[in-house]
Amino acid sequence: MSVNKADLRHMLLHFTSGKAWREGNVPMYVRGEGVYLWDDDGNKIFDGLAGLFVVQLGHGRSDLANAAAKQMELLAYTPTWAAAHPSAIECAKLISEVAPTGMDSVFFVSSGSEAVESVIKFARQYHYMRGNPTKTGIISRDFSYHGTTMGALSLTGLEGIRAPFYPLLPNTHKVPNTLDAANGGAAAFEETILRVGPENIGLITAEPVQNGGGALVPPDGYWQELRRICDKYDILLHADEVITGFGRLGDWFGSAIVGADPDFITFAKGATSGYAPIGGVIVRDEVVNDLLIEHDTGFTHGATWGGHPMVMATAIANITAMRSEHVVENVAANQDYFGAKLAELAAAYDVVTDIRGTGYFYAVELGRSREGGQYLTEEETALYVKERLPRFIQDANLLIRADDRGNAKLMLSPPLICEASDLDKLLAGVDEVVSRFAGDLSP
Ligand SMILES: Cc1ncc(COP(=O)(O)O)c(C=O)c1O
Repeated sequence: MSVNKADLRHMLLHFTSGKAWREGNVPMYVRGEGVYLWDDDGNKIFDGLAGLFVVQLGHGRSDLANAAAKQMELLAYTPTWAAAHPSAIECAKLISEVAPTGMDSVFFVSSGSEAVESVIKFARQYHYMRGNPTKTGIISRDFSYHGTTMGALSLTGLEGIRAPFYPLLPNTHKVPNTLDAANGGAAAFEETILRVGPENIGLITAEPVQNGGGALVPPDGYWQELRRICDKYDILLHADEVITGFGRLGDWFGSAIVGADPDFITFAKGATSGYAPIGGVIVRDEVVNDLLIEHDTGFTHGATWGGHPMVMATAIANITAMRSEHVVENVAANQDYFGAKLAELAAAYDVVTDIRGTGYFYAVELGRSREGGQYLTEEETALYVKERLPRFIQDANLLIRADDRGNAKLMLSPPLICEASDLDKLLAGVDEVVSRFAGDLSP
């Protein structure tokens, strides 16, 4: 299909400046295969972000496309409101097989934000039915991203994207993330609970490894402490695995990597490798049983597209292929290599102020000097993250993300099929970007 880029004016872009939109100054990808994308100028680009933390299996998989087409021919649509269909049941069963033990039920929606909304409402209904209607409060962390719909945005801890939308949900509280907290941070949750009153708090939400702030790996014992706090004050614990789910950290769910034992896991992106829009919540058995059996009620929430047959068939094909091709094991096998190569990059450039992350999810933090402890000013961060780094990245034929939530950084999240030789190609591109950044910084 050939399109005129001037027609972009008909299409409003997500999180894009008006200037970039007016000038048509955004990349346009037209094809994908494996770990590569091609743009409208014919450039071959390494997809070092898996699209947007999404394309676990890589691009151009005809098995996933065929599974979707077959389902559409067989049964295009039926709701999952007071009805079911075989693909949704099969998909939920497959997900419960790879989910942590004791989490055997899945509620499907169509995006990560909707999944987070569903958790907010499930937690509220759970406490309400148990005679605790004031337990509406939620604690999440600074710089976290939990989505953009009004409930999910109330948990998101990024002031820049919250500011135009107040008032958000009341009784939502932020505590420092694991990078900013002096003592690693779990204590701040308990302090907030005691300040607000345990009778007013019903949910704690956190990512196993937080994206905002740059792939923040929690200290040992952090999630165990969150579990202890939740048990003590009758609070539900939510691991938002929209990025970390489906293999990104070298296990099916990041919860296994960080020792989390949550009541809810939200997932989205990687569950279909991006071949169809999906979101969902995996719920701990006791919580499901309490609401649906003990209280003999249903979850008062739903959406037309939840458990859509084509999406379910695509997710089944994705999970089946990830299993038979040992994709999660591939991450586990190569993650040390990836980490070691990134450490070499840091050693080679004083402008790399930190490398954070695990699995196939890393942040390369950039500043003036690691040795001198000098970071970029706010103006410099804006200049590099918004203008120069995107250009350097594009010139290196890479898709990775320059991020300014906190210090300037490059976010790396390659497809999970990457082998060591693919990671080498990604790292060569990252090296080129960092080298240009170092040369470009004025003394
Ligand atoms: C941890 C987390 N939660 C929720 C979301 C929102 O997902 P979506 O963009 O599908 O609404 C994201 C998106 O990146 C995310 O990273």
